[in-house]
Amino acid sequence: MKDKRLPPYDFEVHANIAEAKTIHTAVYHDANVFQVLLEKIFVPSWQFIASCDELPTEDFYFPFSFLPPIIDEPLVAVKNTEGQFDCFSNVCTHRGNILATEACTSKHGLICKYHGRRFSADGKMVFMPEFKEVQNFPSAQDDLPRYPIQKWGNWLFTSLVPQSALPPAYALHDGTFELSYF
Ligand code: FES
Repeated sequence: MKDKRLPPYDFEVHANIAEAKTIHTAVYHDANVFQVLLEKIFVPSWQFIASCDELPTEDFYFPFSFLPPIIDEPLVAVKNTEGQFDCFSNVCTHRGNILATEACTSKHGLICKYHGRRFSADGKMVFMPEFKEVQNFPSAQDDLPRYPIQKWGNWLFTSLVPQSALPPAYALHDGTFELSYF
């Protein structure tokens, strides 16, 4: 069903290129179209993080932004002690401070420089100064949101939606990307 925010002109892309027509010029400058494209195409897309070589050691943290400047979401890729890669939000779950500001190795996880909240390499909030008396703390909401990460060759990619929620065009096939979608 067509998104209600989209203007009435037709900009279907015909499957047969011989029958395709040039899309309406308004598609290029309509703010609603831009918003819909962001949500439907770019948020669930796979975006490049780095080559594996840029996370050279275990306990390595690599901060990056998802798709600047249109989706400037701060994320951090981690190579854990088993040599596996993970991707998390790089925003502290306390007051939103950015956690990693440069690539680094840390055996103690990420420590927020604002009030000292500490996160382990699996994104769990493991320590917060002066919070011993707080009830029901920590909870899952204090952990860093996790994002999917995939390795293709020597390159790492992530998406802002869970892998299970990706639209078919962005799904992985036998653990590899369909390059035609990029
Ligand atoms: S903002 Fe990170 S501990 Fe407060």
